[in-house]
Amino acid sequence: MQPELSPAAPRDPQAGVGPRTGSLSLPVRPRRLRRTLALRRMVREHTVRVDQLIYPLFVVPGKDIDDPIDAMPGVRHLSVDRLEAEVSEVRRLGIKAVLLFGLPRVKDPFGSDATKPDGAVPEAIRAIKSWAPDLVVMTDVCLCAYTDHGHCGVVEDGVILNDPSVDLLTRMAVAHAGAGADVVAPSDMMDGRIGAIRSSLDKHGLSHVAIMSYAAKYASSYYGPFRDAAHSAPQFGDRRAYQMDPANGREAIREVLLDVAEGADIVMVKPAMPYLDILQMVRNNVHLPVAAYQVSGEYSQIIAAADRGWLDRTTVMEESLLAIRRAGADLIITYFAKDYARMSHHGS
Ligand code: PBG
Ligand code: ZN
Repeated sequence: MQPELSPAAPRDPQAGVGPRTGSLSLPVRPRRLRRTLALRRMVREHTVRVDQLIYPLFVVPGKDIDDPIDAMPGVRHLSVDRLEAEVSEVRRLGIKAVLLFGLPRVKDPFGSDATKPDGAVPEAIRAIKSWAPDLVVMTDVCLCAYTDHGHCGVVEDGVILNDPSVDLLTRMAVAHAGAGADVVAPSDMMDGRIGAIRSSLDKHGLSHVAIMSYAAKYASSYYGPFRDAAHSAPQFGDRRAYQMDPANGREAIREVLLDVAEGADIVMVKPAMPYLDILQMVRNNVHLPVAAYQVSGEYSQIIAAADRGWLDRTTVMEESLLAIRRAGADLIITYFAKDYARMSHHGS
């Protein structure tokens, strides 16, 4: 038997056979560059660096809260006073950015708590900036966790109203930016919100704050675990009147180009793995950094299969992140960020 991995394999008993090409008719042997680990590493086309990862954090109002989220093992609900340990771990691991999601004190039809400067997210931003001024703080800007009906905007007679929703989202973004967020990330998919948020930020002296747009966000069932975590499942209907139809590809480019024109600094595709074709198309059509969101369902399905011994958690994690990078993502939002950072510190 041929010793497959031996770097010292003396000579190939099959020499001279195999596929031939070119004028010399020599055998073509791509496996030459896969023979040893060192060679394989040298010819790697893509890598995943820890500083390309963004780690989501779930911030809740109140004190002394540190609750595991059932459907997302390893991810927790944290009150601001319990955030410091998490933030210092994130920094110690070399992660450069967090993406904050908040829960309100009370839900109402307009998601009023979302726009308050003393809500859980603004408080968390100020606290994080006091502990770790260099950590990039991004915030999700959307109303669905704040409205009692669970939709991403204002609802009237069962219809999501676009422009009144944009108004609220704009105020929410200003509240986050005013508290010190470096990047606001609108995830609602209302029309025109990037332009509205950009001009309002500028008007409020916040022209230095960047916008990462959830530009091509699909109406995906992979958000299931997150909606449990954010208590944000719609109480009636679904999100298909604003999030994109999974059947559509070209439309993603239209959405992305609109957001670029309206002033987005980073555009995002979400989810990631089931939409790698979209990611690649977006990469080829814009010059901005492109982010991909490896969403809760993508994360939890890997963990669940690994818990049953059906998949290897670490190698599948690495392969999934590599696939997302290979498709064209500069940045990846992932619940695996801490795990990946730990793994890469230990060397792989
Ligand atoms: C809020 C929002 C969602 C996610 C990010 N921001 C849920 C949704 O649109 O229903 C999903 C994140 C995840 O699944 O990890 N609009
Ligand atoms: Zn939403």
